[in-house]
Amino acid sequence: MVLLIKDEYPDKLFREDGKRLDGRDKKELRPIKMEVGVLKNADGSAYIEWGNNKIFAAVYGPREVHPHHLAKPDRGVLRVFYRMATYSVFDRKRPAPGRREKEISMIISDCLEPVLFLELYPGTSFEVFIEVIDADGGTRCASTTVAALALADAGVPMRSLVTSLALGIIDGELVVDLSGIEDKAGDADLPIAITWFNDEISLLQFDGKMDLSQFDEFLTLSKEFAKEIYEMQVATLKEKYLGIQENIEKENKNREDDSK
Ligand code: CDP
Repeated sequence: MVLLIKDEYPDKLFREDGKRLDGRDKKELRPIKMEVGVLKNADGSAYIEWGNNKIFAAVYGPREVHPHHLAKPDRGVLRVFYRMATYSVFDRKRPAPGRREKEISMIISDCLEPVLFLELYPGTSFEVFIEVIDADGGTRCASTTVAALALADAGVPMRSLVTSLALGIIDGELVVDLSGIEDKAGDADLPIAITWFNDEISLLQFDGKMDLSQFDEFLTLSKEFAKEIYEMQVATLKEKYLGIQENIEKENKNREDDSK
């Protein structure tokens, strides 16, 4: 793991052997692990480890809107609260939500809203609480991805899942899934989110410099790698439901055996 010391970024983000500082190829994701149903008090929840990022998402809803004046008579509202723990970054982060957290909360909400049937839930709210425990670049993407899983885990009707990741340019080369140090010391960062029911992009941000001719490759690669992450999301949900099914079958079998 590369220790991030403020203002001391390496001159080069590629090693002699052409690999990135964390040993990855240019077009390689960091290791990703996901789990659903991790918090017993939430209606739905999920956890993701994406490289060194560690993030929980908890969903409540549909429920009464607080404060009431935020309720909409013709539809439900989605409220997202993205927060970084004070110990999640190298410097101590101030505990109060800053401008960055408010902006990221809004972005994640905009990414997720198109897949929800909010029109079916007038006067209510769905709330998604995202806690970044450890941060290392791309937390908005990992948070969007884990929040979509938590919504699915809560049984909220959805048109599809949402997947997000960031591509970028470091030392002039296009790379997939920027780490924290690449995000800070690299040339460009382009987070994207995809809603699978219509194959549309619900987030496209850009920070840095990029040649317009690279944009098509960016989009193609983003979709290709997002698909890989999407398949992990689906497998995570399937694992949960297959586990439930197995338990029900076991219980039924035990009941049958007892009644013999
Ligand atoms: O996390 P994401 O890439 O979506 O957002 P960012 O604002 O581009 O931040 C990039 C990275 O900088 C984060 O993932 C953290 O690792 C780090 N960061 C930090 O060290 N201190 C902060 N107050 C905010 C972010």
